[in-house]
Amino acid sequence: MTTFPKIRMRRLRSNPLLRDLVRETRLDVGKLVQPLFVCPGSDVDRPISAMPGCSQMSIDRTVEKARMLSDLGIRSIILFGIPSVKDAVGSEASAENGIVPQAVRALKKAVPQMLVWCDVCLCEYTDHGHCGILHGDHVDNDATLPRLSAMALACAQAGADVIAPSDMMDGRVGAIRSTLDESGFQDAVIVSYAAKYASSFYGPFREAAESTPAFGDRRSYQMDPANSDEALREVALDLEEGADIVMVKPALSYLDVIRRVKDRFQVPVAAYNVSGEFSMIKAAAAAGWLDGDRAMREVLLSIHRAGADIILTYHGEELARAGA
Ligand code: PBG
Repeated sequence: MTTFPKIRMRRLRSNPLLRDLVRETRLDVGKLVQPLFVCPGSDVDRPISAMPGCSQMSIDRTVEKARMLSDLGIRSIILFGIPSVKDAVGSEASAENGIVPQAVRALKKAVPQMLVWCDVCLCEYTDHGHCGILHGDHVDNDATLPRLSAMALACAQAGADVIAPSDMMDGRVGAIRSTLDESGFQDAVIVSYAAKYASSFYGPFREAAESTPAFGDRRSYQMDPANSDEALREVALDLEEGADIVMVKPALSYLDVIRRVKDRFQVPVAAYNVSGEFSMIKAAAAAGWLDGDRAMREVLLSIHRAGADIILTYHGEELARAGA
């Protein structure tokens, strides 16, 4: 057996040129998706306290931000809307002149080279903060599907390139695909949040998107963190229903799930490096407990190495500025 001292693993680590030569994965700014929170008004830039560097921005500011991100090499943004009014069925989610469709129109006009993704979910738009229509305290799966389809259609009509349903209702990918196809949007891409877990790591996002449930939690529709076989079933079903790209969310506590999905299905896989994962690094770096830039790179690299082709991350702008 050929082994030490003939084999020396340190040989290929001995200088930066060699390390670079044998590096197996690299970060690519063009594969990052930057989430943005769009709110009503003009010239609004309201920092989100738990997510340093992120803000709720009005459409004019969002357009400026998108232009700057594009100049930095970022090619995709995903929009979350903060509506002016919320009600039981999330009416503004599907309104032609809702906050997100308006933003999409402005963005596609001003920054046409940017791929505009729309998160499709009712939780920011309902007064109770759940991701679907309620019957009593129960989130009614089938009654929610037409609402999600209507929201997806409003986004597609405004010019969205990518529709990304994040609600975890059963059958929503199929419902949305049919609605889009019937309306002439055969080419609108669906990225399904296929394996989305009921996670504590969404905490800061709920402040950012003002979408905390008024009662209970999301465990009757989002996945149990203990399961990964179930994630493969979710992915298989969403692909059958017509998803083009599948997502695992959150990323960091679910690297094993990302790898299983990538190994099983020969499709593009996205992962969402969620708000809590971002805030932990920011908080620790601010306290001087770790090197924020290195931690960010290590985390993003781990998600990529686990098998994610595309990464949704609040670090996008920062990484693009610093250079991948
Ligand atoms: C639901 C949605 C959530 C996130 C993205 N889409 C929150 C939730 O399910 O409670 C979380 C993203 C993050 O934490 O960064 N519309």
